[in-house]
Amino acid sequence: MESEARTAATAPLPFATWADVRQRRIEGVLDRTLASVPAIPAELTGAMRYAVLGGGKRMRPLLAYAAGELTQASPEAVDGVAAAVEMIHAYSLVHDDLPCMDDDVLRRGKPTCHVAYGEAMALLAGDALQAQAFAVLQSARLADPAAACRLLAQSAGAAGMAGGQAIDLLHVGKALALPALEVMHRMKTGALIRAAILLGAQCGRAVHGTEAALAGFARSIGLAFQVVDDVLDVEGSAASLGKTAGKDAASHKPTYVSLLGLDAAKAHAQALREEAQAALAPFGTRARRLHEIADWIVRRDH
Ligand code: IPE
Ligand code: IPE
Ligand code: MG
Ligand code: MG
Ligand code: MG
Repeated sequence: MESEARTAATAPLPFATWADVRQRRIEGVLDRTLASVPAIPAELTGAMRYAVLGGGKRMRPLLAYAAGELTQASPEAVDGVAAAVEMIHAYSLVHDDLPCMDDDVLRRGKPTCHVAYGEAMALLAGDALQAQAFAVLQSARLADPAAACRLLAQSAGAAGMAGGQAIDLLHVGKALALPALEVMHRMKTGALIRAAILLGAQCGRAVHGTEAALAGFARSIGLAFQVVDDVLDVEGSAASLGKTAGKDAASHKPTYVSLLGLDAAKAHAQALREEAQAALAPFGTRARRLHEIADWIVRRDH
């Protein structure tokens, strides 16, 4: 009886509960962070808040918290890097939806930022969120803040998200061979996911070999994430996705589905998930949450 009670007290929370607690937590952190920006002009800060708050899966913050748990960082210690990465991500979505890019009107179940605030305010909200992300990051408690800034900058910049988005837009209506498609996905989506994981881990204790193993995990799960995004664009609905479905085919974008077909794309995502989880083997149960997030990434319906 006593040992049962002890087991119950120490049993890990179910993943859904763990994730829900941290999703609420990051929502509060982001809210407070944005509240600290002077609301002058209110249109700009309004657009920033609209883009960041009240929606989204918060997968990158969850990855940061999970990687932090692995290195024994408290959630408080991870808040800053989680918020910084999510602000870069939210900015990338605002710009991705602009008429000059994917021209989308629905995001996170709401009109896109430029539909609600106009193109100029949406563009500037993205710019300001990117700048704010670095301000937040530099106030986080990290052993090597300069290295963290460099990592976030590289993941968001020409060698990462922005570069990947450029490849994406340069190949509308054009074929892309599988290796080039992989590079595009790794840059536009994988790089920031990698930053979320590595920065989360940097909030805790550095142990030799941790970063290399986590980088292996990040490489596979980051790609799996975008492969699933391509699949959901075909199989999902606007109601489930909170964004317009069928956009990639309508815009003649090269994707894993257009190149491999639906079934092979799904199988590829599963193989990448297994590869990612195999990279966590050295950590044992300390990597429980990362393992669960990897399952969630390929299982999700939005
Ligand atoms: C969508 O990312 C854009 C991609 C990089 C594929 P998410 O699917 O994480 O979007 P939110 O944050 O949950 O809205
Ligand atoms: C966007 O990829 C990746 C970003 C860097 C924002 P997508 O264009 O496929 O993202 P969705 O499907 O609009 O969310
Ligand atoms: Mg796009
Ligand atoms: Mg898009
Ligand atoms: Mg997509």
